[in-house]
Amino acid sequence: MNQKLRLGIIGGGLMGREAASAFGRWFVLENFPVQVELVAVCDLQENLLEWFKKVPTVKLLTKDHKELLQSPDVDVVYVAVPHNLHQGLYLDVLNAGKDLLAEKPFGIDLQAARTIRDAAAKSGRFVRCSSEFPFMPGAQRAFQLAKSGQFGKLLEVRSCFWHSSDLDPTKAINWKRQNKFCGEIGVMGDLGMHVVHFPFRLGWNPKRVFAQLQKIYTERPDGKGGMAPCDTWDNALLHTDVDINGQSDVPVRFEMKRLAPGETNTWQIEILGTDGGVRYSTKEPKTLWTFKRGKEQIWERTDLGYQMPFQTITGGIFEAGFPDCFLQMWAAYAAERAGALGDRMGCVTPDEAVKSHELFAAALESHKGKKVVELS
Ligand SMILES: NC(=O)c1ccc[n+]([C@@H]2O[C@H](COP(=O)([O-])OP(=O)(O)OC[C@H]3O[C@@H](n4cnc5c(N)ncnc54)[C@H](O)[C@@H]3O)[C@@H](O)[C@H]2O)c1
Repeated sequence: MNQKLRLGIIGGGLMGREAASAFGRWFVLENFPVQVELVAVCDLQENLLEWFKKVPTVKLLTKDHKELLQSPDVDVVYVAVPHNLHQGLYLDVLNAGKDLLAEKPFGIDLQAARTIRDAAAKSGRFVRCSSEFPFMPGAQRAFQLAKSGQFGKLLEVRSCFWHSSDLDPTKAINWKRQNKFCGEIGVMGDLGMHVVHFPFRLGWNPKRVFAQLQKIYTERPDGKGGMAPCDTWDNALLHTDVDINGQSDVPVRFEMKRLAPGETNTWQIEILGTDGGVRYSTKEPKTLWTFKRGKEQIWERTDLGYQMPFQTITGGIFEAGFPDCFLQMWAAYAAERAGALGDRMGCVTPDEAVKSHELFAAALESHKGKKVVELS
């Protein structure tokens, strides 16, 4: 390790602490060119700042993000806050001359995403957006197979992310279930970047979309004995046409669901063609399913090990999970920033993030008018 990357976190909630855990085990990466150190954290909640005192490298704990941004000890900032705050805080990071790993959905709506993308380009800072599941070994293998074009004529593609925790109507409201904090795109803002990163990186860009959006529970307990409106979309099915390798209008379906019975946090990709196919789901994290056309109909199951894009000390036959792909995503960010990504997959770019918002804005229009919407 030679280069040092000093990190600051704004938003030390669920994801801020997950990031701290990734930096805390950075030394598992083998022959990695960048050393990472978490040096500063900003959150509004005292108990969270208290939690970060466990991290020995953290020198600055503050409730004022401007204080963190003024620190000459911080090179890169990870911002993990509610979506209504993305634009303001991301622009503050860029104006302070720092690099940024932004959380999805990269602004509350399309206009915010474009503003952030344009500011990032103007600043010259290194900016990427979070999406970790494509760094799982099965997803990486599926990506290589899809790139090789060995599936023959494509029949259909499904890219999915499913939760089920919202099936419980007694679950209290939080900021992710309210448009004013989460955005009008609702579940698409919450889960959408996870389902577009892999297809977009293959150049699979939707030409048109027909969207089915559902709001099932319209209010939830407010945690104070009353009820509060729950106005975000719960589930979204985006049926799109995509031109792939000279083949017109391949059906590509993006599924984002907070109400998916039986699913806790399932990311899945399925690609079916006339000569072959692949299916990978984080529900069975070791298992890669592949299909090859033959006399009989056979899906083959491969037990994958820990074949990560960035090598670690972890045994090659061990299983990978969420903290592992999150660490790999951060390694991809650090490697790309240092010019050492090579031919590995990188994090979501600002242009890809804007493209996702263009798709979600078109989906809102489609659902509202019950019509197909063309994308430019
Ligand atoms: N990549 C993933 O898998 C993944 C998973 C969950 C959430 N997210 C994204 O991460 C972001 C945060 O989500 P979360 O689940 O961590 O939310 P969270 O509610 O757990 O944490 C958000 C934190 O931001 C803090 N905060 C709010 N305003 C602030 C301010 N002005 N300055 C400093 N801190 C402030 C809050 O106190 C809270 O601790 C969102 O964009 C969300 O979509 C990503």
